[in-house]
Amino acid sequence: MSTVFRLDASIKPEGSVTRAIEDTLQGAIVADLDATVVKREIGLTPLPSDAWATAIFAGFTPADARTPEQNAAVALVTELADELASAEVAIIGAPFYNWGVTQHLKTWFDLVLADPRFSAGVETPAGSGKQAFLVIARGGGYGEGTPRYGWDHATAWLERILKDVWGYEVTIIEAELTLAESTPAMAGLVDLARQRLAEAHSAAETHGKAVAVKLGEIAAA
Ligand SMILES: Cc1cc2nc3c(=O)[nH]c(=O)nc-3n(C[C@H](O)[C@H](O)[C@H](O)COP(=O)(O)O)c2cc1C
Repeated sequence: MSTVFRLDASIKPEGSVTRAIEDTLQGAIVADLDATVVKREIGLTPLPSDAWATAIFAGFTPADARTPEQNAAVALVTELADELASAEVAIIGAPFYNWGVTQHLKTWFDLVLADPRFSAGVETPAGSGKQAFLVIARGGGYGEGTPRYGWDHATAWLERILKDVWGYEVTIIEAELTLAESTPAMAGLVDLARQRLAEAHSAAETHGKAVAVKLGEIAAA
């Protein structure tokens, strides 16, 4: 039995692009694989934003002297890290809001980074040798040559943590121009936006099937 961890971070109750692409990816992974999906939703049900600092200071406090709040924050850190560490594959949904990493996603990363299995500098972090998919949706376009080139302050940071701090093999699946359908000023970009979205779903399908084959081989070995 394989385990897939999935993190949803869109604030949209309906019409989330990251969630839709994650659905395609998850569907392709689990279609022919004996797998459990561990899901954490943080966009609609956010994690407490003060838990991280409380957990960090709990780390400087002897276990028997911790406050109930510190114990709860440490328990949350362990729960989140357990969810991620339990899985062979991680799917991280990363909607792009205000040119950076969403506060909800940042809170989740901060909390997981507080666990010794995912802390900076740990010799063999819990993601070592595992696959992570970073599923990104941006309303605009940020490629080289576009007016907002250089304004994406999220992707590099997310990739840095997953790959260089946690040890994952990272595959990015991204859709851009997702606001074209609803923004009159972007009307000329609707066809390109649809093409980008179709490509993202197609990449999710292809990568999902490939990782399922790998996981099936590992399980059978
Ligand atoms: C509050 C808010 C802020 C946003 N900020 C940006 C932004 O800075 N740049 C951008 O390209 N798109 C921005 N968008 C558009 C989102 O990137 C787009 O809706 C994307 O599809 C988000 O993923 P989701 O559909 O899974 O929520 C923003 C959307 C919202 C709701």
